[in-house]
Amino acid sequence: MKFFIGCDHGGYSVKSKVIQILESLGNEVKDLGTHSNQSVDYPDYAHKVCKSILSTPGSNGILICGTGIGMSITANRYKGIRAALCTDSYTASITKQHNNSNVLCFGQRVVGMGVIEDMLRAWCKSEFEAGRHQARVEKIENIT
Ligand code: RB5
Repeated sequence: MKFFIGCDHGGYSVKSKVIQILESLGNEVKDLGTHSNQSVDYPDYAHKVCKSILSTPGSNGILICGTGIGMSITANRYKGIRAALCTDSYTASITKQHNNSNVLCFGQRVVGMGVIEDMLRAWCKSEFEAGRHQARVEKIENIT
């Protein structure tokens, strides 16, 4: 799978390890920053990742900030983006199966590296089940 990854200063410390895990699982990862611990605004990185996903069919995203909340709020403003804020491998797996999420968000100040790795593995190996979930996902997109 092709991934775009972005973080703010609150997610920077785990970003390189996340990239390493994703690549070890056979994925291609493009790092859209941030590239240091210096304070930045998380929406800037959520916008970069979401725009890249929408212009690259079939791609996915990872967004990391302190809590994951600001990233997920921003990403879910985009039609066609389904960003899931997760704290465990169960929700990471189910959100791919049921919501066809294309962005995984989490907070570096909330979950440790072991949980992050479990979530990445769960999310990568899970597949959208379609069926009854297809119409539900379409109803998300059909907001008026
Ligand atoms: C930055 O301090 C923090 O607000 C940000 O990383 C994130 O948690 C926002 O939702």
